[in-house]
Amino acid sequence: MVNLGDVFPNFTAKSTTGVIKLHSYLGDSWGILFSHPADYTPVCTTELGRVANLAPEFEKRNVKLMALSCDSVEDHLGWIEDIKAYNCLNGEFPYPIIADPDRDLAVTLGMIDPDEKTASGMPLTARAVFVIGPDKKLKLSILYPATTGRNFDEILRAVDSLQLTAQKKVATPADWKSGGHCMVLPTISPDEAKTMFPQHQVHKVPSGKEYLRTTPLP
Ligand code: BEZ
Repeated sequence: MVNLGDVFPNFTAKSTTGVIKLHSYLGDSWGILFSHPADYTPVCTTELGRVANLAPEFEKRNVKLMALSCDSVEDHLGWIEDIKAYNCLNGEFPYPIIADPDRDLAVTLGMIDPDEKTASGMPLTARAVFVIGPDKKLKLSILYPATTGRNFDEILRAVDSLQLTAQKKVATPADWKSGGHCMVLPTISPDEAKTMFPQHQVHKVPSGKEYLRTTPLP
């Protein structure tokens, strides 16, 4: 199990583009590792296609992508052709799919879904997402069950927030989208806020406490 702020394990694993050693694969980039239960399954086919279609958006944000399931590299390579056909993708598949047939990574990273098993009773991975920062530390993790496909626009939105809040002393409110107003961090004093965010606004609330401070995107 990896907690927020932990250095992500520097695993070595086989993938559809060769052996990946995580930290050197990431270099100075951000990274996303997302797992799915199994190859040749319908929801996973839509998810990997959606991520392939969004690959230029992740690249713009300097994010390197990796998918993972418990199947072999050979299975992944065959399945990629189905993903491309179903999702109208041409050319080279834009990110590697890691093989984890022995469930080594699935166990280390806490990705096993207790409700999902192969026909022979072997455990399968849930739909995990790990966002890793350029410092190799875990910045965000989410875990969905096999039966609920993920919303990858939300993952992109979360990356925008993570990258902004890594640089500026703000937090992003509910349903924030890139470019929208942000909240000044509660740890910033009123004097600091005046200098750092000259256009910020303090919103009056019944408690009289001045903690709701919004600012245009700094
Ligand atoms: C799917 O990708 O469609 C799927 C995989 C495992 C369990 C349920 C759905």
